[in-house]
Amino acid sequence: MPDRYPTKPAINGPRRSSTLQPRAAKAPAPVITTRHLWFGDKAALLAHFLGLSQEDRILRFCSPVGDRFIEKYVDDIDWNKSVVIGVFADGRLIGCSEMIPTDPRWKREAEIAVSIDAGWQGQGHGETALRLAMLAARNRYITTVKLMMLSENRAMAHLAQAAGLKLSPQYGILTGTGQTMPPTYLSLAEEFSLDARARRAAALAGLRAMWAPPSQV
Ligand SMILES: CC(C)(COP(=O)(O)OP(=O)(O)OC[C@H]1O[C@@H](n2cnc3c(N)ncnc32)[C@H](O)[C@@H]1OP(=O)(O)O)[C@@H](O)C(=O)NCCC(=O)NCCS
Repeated sequence: MPDRYPTKPAINGPRRSSTLQPRAAKAPAPVITTRHLWFGDKAALLAHFLGLSQEDRILRFCSPVGDRFIEKYVDDIDWNKSVVIGVFADGRLIGCSEMIPTDPRWKREAEIAVSIDAGWQGQGHGETALRLAMLAARNRYITTVKLMMLSENRAMAHLAQAAGLKLSPQYGILTGTGQTMPPTYLSLAEEFSLDARARRAAALAGLRAMWAPPSQV
């Protein structure tokens, strides 16, 4: 018996929807936060410095340094005096800036240093870290900030100039020097809201991880 309802030949090929593949899940953009580092962050800070390539270590410390030097450097940080700001990507420390008062009597002068993990450079984190270190200096009535860099460190020289520091060369080292403004309520509020924002981001990340389907955890 002939089939009364023969299957219609597909005119335009199989239905479009059947050819659609599920979209590859896009990795969410990392959550970048900045906050003050404290004594308890020593291990993360050490890991960040030890993770710098030999070339970046030379640029950061203005001479080739080994692991032992870096361990001692982190051990010697005076957490009551220096302000260290960390840049985090999804909770992992990827860079920092340090504001180290250098004038023991008047405490009006400080040195600033910045470092960002190689994989995160060129994305504006160095600029943010430098700006926050200068903000920390301003909020502590430090009037003069200095930043030393090797003369071949074009990225740092560019950032220092963009932040208003004047560069002067001497024996292969460039010193960027700048004056800061006195603090205002706004500058104080900006600095002290950093930690609250970072805590809120950490809490949200924790909640997201808790509610994510098991396949995404
Ligand atoms: C220097 C350093 C902190 C910069 O961090 P970063 O996250 O790459 O900096 P940013 O992305 O915020 O900005 C880099 C800027 O330098 C510019 N730059 C990069 N390479 C450059 C070069 N060769 N010449 C001129 N400008 C350059 C970029 O265009 C960018 O400027 P823009 O924002 O106006 O475009 C980072 O490279 C680092 O950690 N280096 C090793 C440690 C170090 O050198 N520390 C400084 C001594 S304290």
